Amino acid sequence: MKIAIMGAMREEIDPILATVGEYSTTEYAGNIFYECSYAGHECVIAYSKIGKVFSAITASVMIERFGATHLLFSGVAGGISKELKIGDLIMASELCQHDVDIVAFGHPYGFIPEGSVMIETDGNLRSLASEVAVDMGIELYEGIIATGDQFVASSERKEWIAKTFNADALEMEGASVACVCHNFGIPFFVLRAISDSADGSADIDFDTFLQSSAQVSATFILEMVKRLGD
Ligand code: ADE
Repeated sequence: MKIAIMGAMREEIDPILATVGEYSTTEYAGNIFYECSYAGHECVIAYSKIGKVFSAITASVMIERFGATHLLFSGVAGGISKELKIGDLIMASELCQHDVDIVAFGHPYGFIPEGSVMIETDGNLRSLASEVAVDMGIELYEGIIATGDQFVASSERKEWIAKTFNADALEMEGASVACVCHNFGIPFFVLRAISDSADGSADIDFDTFLQSSAQVSATFILEMVKRLGD
């Protein structure tokens, strides 16, 4: 087992690097990959930069070049569901790309021929996360996460994504990482802590809560790593 732990932004992996102790670094394909041993597991850690393209590159490299057998994504998201408050954790049951639009050809939003609108995350990793949440006394939400190359800071766009995909949270990398892992046959898990509500004050909230919410997600992911393979 080799575990990839990835985020999109430096702030999302900094709390992880601060905890794992010693690591080696390799520069490759525009990223720095940090390799270490943590809780008896070989790990490779990286942040991709923002968006679907960069995150797909990083996930692919972690699998193909660094031999990752499992991928855990840790980071922040904009909340859609009214139940989700800043700092709350959501694990993706399924992910979709809210900005894919070939409806002119009769396809639903988010659909690419020979693909599917939704990609499901690994059931075993979700079960493990549920156990970790109970043991840590943390409420862990489960729901659909919608991904797109847009920072959503408008109630209108948020409502459209909610209605079209039944999504509970949104961000900019999960579905592209899901697509990579699905195509390589790698079990994957996407965890996000809410940093904002994807509305008119999203930019200010994001800047205010990025660090604290990234820490919440990172702490949880590392607890999962400790229990992987139990
Ligand atoms: N990640 C965190 N908040 C977000 C938002 N409002 N839009 C897109 N990605 C996000």
